[in-house]
Amino acid sequence: MNHRKPKRHSRVILRTLRTLPKLKRAIAEYRARRNTIALVPTMGALHAGHFSLIRIAQRRADRVIVSIFVNPTQFAPTEDLSTYPRTLSADLAALAELKVDLVWSPSVATMYPEGFATRIVPEGPATVGLEDAFRPHFFTGVATVVAKLLVQCEPDIAMFGEKDFQQLKVVTRLARDLGLKTRIVGAPVVREKDGLALSSRNRYLSPTERAAAPALYRALKECAARIAAGGPIAAVLGDGRAAIAKAGFALEYLEARNAETLAPLAAPATEPIRILVAARIGTTRLIDNVAV
Ligand code: PAJ
Repeated sequence: MNHRKPKRHSRVILRTLRTLPKLKRAIAEYRARRNTIALVPTMGALHAGHFSLIRIAQRRADRVIVSIFVNPTQFAPTEDLSTYPRTLSADLAALAELKVDLVWSPSVATMYPEGFATRIVPEGPATVGLEDAFRPHFFTGVATVVAKLLVQCEPDIAMFGEKDFQQLKVVTRLARDLGLKTRIVGAPVVREKDGLALSSRNRYLSPTERAAAPALYRALKECAARIAAGGPIAAVLGDGRAAIAKAGFALEYLEARNAETLAPLAAPATEPIRILVAARIGTTRLIDNVAV
């Protein structure tokens, strides 16, 4: 007779892999079972934005792999690689709770072994003068690591958030240009109740900065509404830039672009429009965007 009490919480075991041979074996297992695979690439410090990507992935594929890798090649020497939030044990607990199938968490030496000498330098949406104008090496780092992740995990689909709208376009182009079998799937921006887009970097905001931060989304929405109503784009953006500065941000860009190519708008604009913004508050850089 079994006298053991039933456990109140059954322990969830999360498969976390750090080496390529193990990853390849796990993927071969899934494929042998004819399971479809979704990949959700992340840099950890997970929040509800990441979780929404995972839930969408779970609806669309039999197996969900989440990668956690803080990719050094997408940070410039002056940027926040060393202080980028790393919360691995909390991340793994959340991923276990979400019942993801596998976490791919390679070391920097596994991803970029001694002698690594190849980079992917994207053009097109990567060179339209938005993020690339302020972070010149960013998309080369992103494209190189995403290409590697797609080759390593061989997913049927890979999820990317519209939060990083230019990144979504760059990665979509990359998968197409390299002839990868993976379909890139975009997911809507998850926001706080006051409109601030969730971001791993929001935890850097002081209470005063946090209180001011929703001004970014308010300005985007205001611009989108006025442009949708036929307002003159240059003047509307001018007002948006002033509102963002007034809220205490140092603005990097606020632009209305072609929602597909991210190229500057034709005059008069008849194409679908996306408004994109990047601005610093204190030492924290925030980005966001909305559709018109
Ligand atoms: P990271 O900033 O961790 O974001 C991982 C994914 O989560 C990205 O696709 C991003 O767009 C999405 N995401 C972040 N915040 C979101 C939000 N509020 N709503 C919806 N989606 C959100 O982006 C990266 O990592 C890296 O550049 C990476 C692609 C992993 C390459 O290193």
